[in-house]
Amino acid sequence: MATKHNTVEDCPVYEGDLVSPEALRDPFPHYRRIRDLGPVVRLKHPDVYAIGRFTDVQQALRLPEVLVSTRGIGFNDIVNTPLEQPPVIQSGGERHKKLRRVITKPLTPAALKEHREMLKALISSRLDSIVDQGEIDAVTTIARHLPLEAISRLVGLPEEGRANMLRWASASFNSAGPLNADGTMDPQLAGDFEIFREFNAYFREINPAHLRPGSWTDMLFQAAKAGVLSPEEARAGMSALVLPSLDTTIYAKGNLLYNLGCNPDQWALLRDNPALISSAVLEGVRYSATVRWFSRVAAQEYEVGEYVIPQGGRVMLLYGSANRDERHYPDPDRFDVTRNPVDQLGWGTGPHMCGGMHLAKLEMEVLLEAMIERVARIEVGSPVIGTNRGLYGFDSLPISLHSK
Ligand code: HEM
Repeated sequence: MATKHNTVEDCPVYEGDLVSPEALRDPFPHYRRIRDLGPVVRLKHPDVYAIGRFTDVQQALRLPEVLVSTRGIGFNDIVNTPLEQPPVIQSGGERHKKLRRVITKPLTPAALKEHREMLKALISSRLDSIVDQGEIDAVTTIARHLPLEAISRLVGLPEEGRANMLRWASASFNSAGPLNADGTMDPQLAGDFEIFREFNAYFREINPAHLRPGSWTDMLFQAAKAGVLSPEEARAGMSALVLPSLDTTIYAKGNLLYNLGCNPDQWALLRDNPALISSAVLEGVRYSATVRWFSRVAAQEYEVGEYVIPQGGRVMLLYGSANRDERHYPDPDRFDVTRNPVDQLGWGTGPHMCGGMHLAKLEMEVLLEAMIERVARIEVGSPVIGTNRGLYGFDSLPISLHSK
């Protein structure tokens, strides 16, 4: 049997800085070094125990009573300050179950079915206008199309809120990340904390009568009227529909398009065999490493391999690293549309597994269907990679789509 060590003394230490601009733009070599150092690695910055191997991340996410999200899932004290009415991802037990049930009601495969045709028509007509039209930016023109034109309407905020959703999403993920190694904030991060306060105030103060009737956020307040949630819980639930519903899928789609463009053999396989769409979507999410990390706190000592994380230690879960773990996936850095990685952890796993994954899947599926119907060849240029501290992805991506 392996000897357990006290983590503080014996846990391997990783000296690299995951939030330097270089690491944010190319986290993959860091992830590999962390995985190779051990099943759990103490980071110099931020002050956390990082878990990067597939099996260990999977297990950690499935033990919500031991690794709790109720003490915050971010990486700085501002976002981890306990709230009277925490959002769903920071809730535990019965409160989490109740909030999650209401939030995900419109996001089940059955509920989303009614939007499939509309989403397919929207993305199809967008593609009709750009195929054979030369180089365009895939992020603003393709990846953002459904989130901005359709999903934001389904979420249901009034116009001024809807117009702010992308700004709020980006700021919410960035401000949940670690501060700089020297504890300072650059102007972008400082500005994002201001935006963090702005959207929290917006959710606190919004008049539910101004939400689009029948929309997803309106449903929260209907649940409150029916006595399923308290009005405060309905407000707390709003962030789960507003903040993660746009940028995440935009980044995942940008990445998918890039990989299909860089791997013409994979595009040809998919184009000639649409039955691979679902597998390609999963591979896209596995490969894209969109949500970089969230954290948990160990409510008691927690063993990972031969190491023990002390009670109260903050644990960083590296989803993108787990999905590139060579101990789990053969040749993990190869983008392979036939891989069908049904267990990939890009959406997490366990009770907090992504509440919007069926929506993300649907958006990516209709995009691929519409592409297969129209596009013979995809040409991509060099992406501009973003430096958001919560999300990895491209801010722009030159692309040309050539017709069949
Ligand atoms: C490709 C796109 C997306 C990715 C990669 C992604 C990834 C994730 C991850 C990693 C988690 C955390 C799981 C955990 O810590 O256990 C999460 C949670 C969540 N996501 Fe997503 N997400 C995506 C799209 C969406 C969309 C479109 C929505 C729509 C509303 C959404 C709503 C949520 C919610 C509500 C939670 C919290 C669930 C809970 O605490 O029970 N996500 N997502």
